[in-house]
Amino acid sequence: MAFVYSQLFVRPTYPTRSFDGQTVLVTGANVGLGMEAARHLVRLGAARVIMGVRNVPAGQAAKEQIETSTGRPGVCEVWEVDLASYSSTLAFGDRIAQLPRLDGAVLNAAVATRTFQLAEGHERTITVNVINTLLLGLLILPRLKATGQEFPMIRPRLSFVVSGVHAWAEFTEWKDTDTPMQLVSDPSQARMQERYPLSKLLQVLLVQELAGRVRGSDVIITMVDPGLCHSSLAREAGWQLYVMKLVLARSTEVGARTLIAGIATGLEGHGAYMTGGSVDNTSLSPFVRSDEGDLARGKLWKELLEILEPIRSGIMQNI
Ligand SMILES: NC(=O)c1ccc[n+]([C@@H]2O[C@H](COP(=O)([O-])OP(=O)(O)OC[C@H]3O[C@@H](n4cnc5c(N)ncnc54)[C@H](OP(=O)(O)O)[C@@H]3O)[C@@H](O)[C@H]2O)c1
Repeated sequence: MAFVYSQLFVRPTYPTRSFDGQTVLVTGANVGLGMEAARHLVRLGAARVIMGVRNVPAGQAAKEQIETSTGRPGVCEVWEVDLASYSSTLAFGDRIAQLPRLDGAVLNAAVATRTFQLAEGHERTITVNVINTLLLGLLILPRLKATGQEFPMIRPRLSFVVSGVHAWAEFTEWKDTDTPMQLVSDPSQARMQERYPLSKLLQVLLVQELAGRVRGSDVIITMVDPGLCHSSLAREAGWQLYVMKLVLARSTEVGARTLIAGIATGLEGHGAYMTGGSVDNTSLSPFVRSDEGDLARGKLWKELLEILEPIRSGIMQNI
């Protein structure tokens, strides 16, 4: 009922806060919520909007559309990143870290698929939505922190786009092993019909842990649930979701307002869950808020560390 109420009656506020002179990264910005968030940022005066995309021609087409609709050419830059690949994520993160400033980042790119496929040794949804999204966040964290030190009026923000469907995931694997991401990457164990919600649950738990380790006064780290929105995410979903979207979904532009809220919130947003554009930790699932959730979070963080250390030695020192 809360979901239906929110979809029908909560309308995220149209963003008006200025991003004048700021540099902001949006991943998955060639389409969907990421593209509309990039459009908002250009409209709101950002000096540079880095569109992180895996499909560069689609990114260029999105950039041209944004330039035409906002009348602000030369703000968007299309940079390639494939979050299914460690080397691409590292190269992209290192490139972002070279920017003269980075005021905000919206880590929005994600995949939703029921097809099992491995990428870098883990099931692809886990690699893209969880491991490499966290890796990218860690790679750019020093640049965000440094921007806050160089520009005392700026409080840099790092925002992860999660989802209310994190509450739908049955995540019992955490009890059976010390390496749950490894276990769910075993094709004989993987329940691919629940994989996307599971990836969002793992993201929520890991972002909470990350935010707990970073001072909000250095970088505000948020989690944003945009609600059900029109986009190309559910390409593989059946007719039921199609009908549900016809009735309940927010437009892509309205959904993208929540992404802007995620990089505009004050300190109260640090480590918090945002839905409908506002902080609301009560919308986190009971599991996330439970003692068991705490234990699962601890195991996942340790596993993430073990996965990332060989990829980029000392990465956790970025915190
Ligand atoms: N739409 C909703 O109802 C809804 C609800 C809750 C949360 N969300 C979240 O909102 C975010 C944006 O989703 P959306 O609805 O806008 O979906 P979308 O239209 O499918 O956009 C997803 C973006 O992620 C990119 N992406 C996928 N795999 C990638 C990879 N390996 N490397 C780099 N980029 C990759 C896609 O690139 P390609 O175009 O090349 O595939 C696309 O740009 C996601 O985090 C999603 O989980 C959406």
